[in-house]
Amino acid sequence: MIFNNRFLIIFLLPLYWATAFGFTEYLLKTCQQSGFCHRNKVYSQNILKTKNSYYSIDLSSINYEVEKSKSELNLFTANIIKTIPRPDVGDIKVVLPISISFLKDTNSVRLTIDEDRHPELDNSISEILNPYRYNETWKWAFDIDNKDILQGDKLSFYELKGSSNNVISLYNRDNSIKVEVYTNSFKIKVFYNDTLVFTVNDRLFMNLEHKRLKELNFQNINPEETPYNMFGDDFEYSKDDTLKFGPESVALDFTFNNMENVYGIPEHADSLKLKDTSNTEPYRLFNVDVFEYTIDSPMPMYGAIPFMIGTNKDTSAGIFWVNAADTWVDIAYEGSDTKTHWISETGIIDVVLFLGKSPSDLTKNYIKLTGKPQLPLLSSIGYHQCRWNYNDEPDVLNVDSEMDKYQFPFDFIWLDLEYTDDKKYFTWKPNSFPNPKRLLNKLARLGRQLVVLIDPHLKLNYFVSDSVVEDQGCVYNSEGDPFIGHCWPGNSIWIDTLNPIGQKLWDGFFKKFIGSIKNLHIWNDMNEPSIFSGPETTAPKDLIHYAGFEERSIHNIYGLSVHETTYDSLKEIKDGSGLRPFVLTRAFFAGSQRTAATWTGDNAANWDYLRISIPMCLTNNIVGMPFIGADVAGFSGDPEPELLVRWYQAGIWYPFFRGHAHIDTKRREPYLLDEPDRSIVREAIQLRYALLPMLYTSFFNAHRTGTPIMKPMFYDKTMYPELYAIDDQFYVGDSGLLVKPIVDKEATSVEMMFVPGIYYEYTNLSPLIINGIVPQSRNIDAPLDIIPMFIEGGHILTRRNKYRRSSKLMRHDPYTLVIAPDVYGNAFGDLYIDDGETFEFEKGEYLETNFSLNDGKVLKSTVLNEPQFDNVLGNTDIYEIKIATAAIKKTVKKTVTIISGSNKHEVPLHRSEDGNWVSIRYPKIKVDETWEITF
Ligand code: NOJ
Repeated sequence: MIFNNRFLIIFLLPLYWATAFGFTEYLLKTCQQSGFCHRNKVYSQNILKTKNSYYSIDLSSINYEVEKSKSELNLFTANIIKTIPRPDVGDIKVVLPISISFLKDTNSVRLTIDEDRHPELDNSISEILNPYRYNETWKWAFDIDNKDILQGDKLSFYELKGSSNNVISLYNRDNSIKVEVYTNSFKIKVFYNDTLVFTVNDRLFMNLEHKRLKELNFQNINPEETPYNMFGDDFEYSKDDTLKFGPESVALDFTFNNMENVYGIPEHADSLKLKDTSNTEPYRLFNVDVFEYTIDSPMPMYGAIPFMIGTNKDTSAGIFWVNAADTWVDIAYEGSDTKTHWISETGIIDVVLFLGKSPSDLTKNYIKLTGKPQLPLLSSIGYHQCRWNYNDEPDVLNVDSEMDKYQFPFDFIWLDLEYTDDKKYFTWKPNSFPNPKRLLNKLARLGRQLVVLIDPHLKLNYFVSDSVVEDQGCVYNSEGDPFIGHCWPGNSIWIDTLNPIGQKLWDGFFKKFIGSIKNLHIWNDMNEPSIFSGPETTAPKDLIHYAGFEERSIHNIYGLSVHETTYDSLKEIKDGSGLRPFVLTRAFFAGSQRTAATWTGDNAANWDYLRISIPMCLTNNIVGMPFIGADVAGFSGDPEPELLVRWYQAGIWYPFFRGHAHIDTKRREPYLLDEPDRSIVREAIQLRYALLPMLYTSFFNAHRTGTPIMKPMFYDKTMYPELYAIDDQFYVGDSGLLVKPIVDKEATSVEMMFVPGIYYEYTNLSPLIINGIVPQSRNIDAPLDIIPMFIEGGHILTRRNKYRRSSKLMRHDPYTLVIAPDVYGNAFGDLYIDDGETFEFEKGEYLETNFSLNDGKVLKSTVLNEPQFDNVLGNTDIYEIKIATAAIKKTVKKTVTIISGSNKHEVPLHRSEDGNWVSIRYPKIKVDETWEITF
């Protein structure tokens, strides 16, 4: 059993009990304390001085696969030779196979570098371990159903030039990408439309620590290397790591040429624009449980998406480091370049470099490779009411009815840990939830859903864990015995969802647990995995997973494997009804967007966590995982009413909008607030619901093209350098809605940044004109009942105004269109509607309509797609069309003419008292019809 007294000390630390002290940082390694990070940092510092290069391509090994048959991948392959000069014993040469390919339709280059291992000659490796480097992270990260992309694009040709440092040039099909491979001193330059975008191994930091015997270690080290912790681990909490393979790290440096801004690589509680780490810790990607994490910090968190985006005004580039091991990333902004250094503990070098004109090109191509963000249940983008814990059935039903009594719309209610029988997942606490079906049926009456928590640790000695051990579907310790560690239930084992046996068992448990219930969904928490008795709050790195791979190699995809297996199982269960499952995961990796929503974990009820939640959500949104939110209004601690109000006003913009609270906190369901706070929060949640048509359209656009739902200012506007570092205001999808939530105590106004153009204050459509050619800030009034929000001129928003208790009950309500013309009198908007709950949209059962206003004169709808069946859309009537008039005053008349099919009629225009807008009521047209209105 891997768990000793030292671990007990950690376990006894009150990690989960609200403290005023924040995260206990000493539990986590610094780079200095992490053997492989330390070694690579030392290596890079020394190499900068010596400029020695130990890696070159063996020209005789080059193999260029000319199109032999259509189905064959077109790869450039060769061997890199790592040479360790040893005049005494003769140079040591290590063979590292490299491959380069262009991935189809994604404007990307893939580079892999492995190690040629010969297990048959090496009896130093334990029999229960897989002797090879783990090279299957891509199988989890990529959308492997999309076989097309993996086919690879054609390499058009290559040539060898010169003799001092031979260069091989590879071109993609349309010659927009050129890859120059320098062979003597290994280096790669990547050009996009003839502009140099990336230099790989620019600073010669490449380091692949090859397999060697401990006794021969010193023969295998270059002068720039340090042997620090190569075969052992000095860190207080991971001294037991057996490190059976010794040093195995992989590292490479990438320069973003002529780019001074990089983003991405969540999860960190830090700014949107990544910071220079020359004098700080590198950003670390290592899924860990970090209660009350430190903010403004590069420390690791629950999830890891190793995708970084760089941009300047007209070119963008992305690095996708496909590695699931513990990873550190250093960033240096140097002159007009950004220099990055990626270091992983093990695995192979597998990296995809994306090229494009704008960040949206990158996100779009990245999700082609890693999979589309799911289109979730419409109800799941409503409000979620959660707490650790609602105690029993009456408690749940009471919250349910109090929400209605005070007119707070909501769709999901949640049961945390304590609903189980003694923390045994797949069971219900008998006295508290004697009849779960009855509860679920009651909730279903208003279209509501229930989420319950199921974690991957399984309490010892009950039918679930017993069968997992018996059928060998669990995670094993380094000796090959079932690993037993500590989590909520005490001694537990962990399901191995990388293992087909584990997947099958997991699937079976869900089938039995959920049966025919339709409105029950799942929350996979603690799946980093969180292990109270483990080093760094997680799994010992020498645990063994499926196919003999160590935890060390697969760590960051474990959580993905858990939630994806859960999703697959729920999807199968729901297949009869065709309903979309909802799964929330705490740990995530690239690819998680296909099947789960996530949240920013255990924050605390203070203003700093509210502030940081915005850049955190923005970051996930630009790396293809938009369905994210933060616990409103802070997980631990009791928020003062002002903070709670402001947090709801911010939370309504999170793609995933959930109120949640720690078990030790006071009850804080929004109806418990006093007036006027209760009404202010009610108004905010009702606004979220009014905007569901627009938000759901944004989710569809995210699903289709990766468009962020919370979109950073710079994202579509890279021409304005003033926007590159803004991360406290954002656009909502493509809607043109620009929001700046208040995150400061006692604030009554706020500085907000606008690019030149016309804006309309959301509630009264009063205009704000920004002249000139550069972005400017304006002071915006924001007393407690105001959320600073504007519609950017040029957009058309769709909403449903009437309060209903849940999203489902809004299906029968008509729509309102809000037209916000730009200075030329033009505006555009799109609307997506489907049944909100099944996969029928994949067969074309949805409506997509475009609305456009031209020159302030003609407003028209164009139906791009409509469903075949009548019952898909609900009510499609338009109740009102509201038009902001500041930019089109001259063209507005007293009546308007509506042409719809062969129907033509005149309707009066209403004018607002303040003159900000005109409106057409009951125009007798629908959102799923083609019509034209002439002003
Ligand atoms: C940790 C999660 O982050 C938190 O949201 C949850 O309430 C607790 N686990 C208890 O399950």
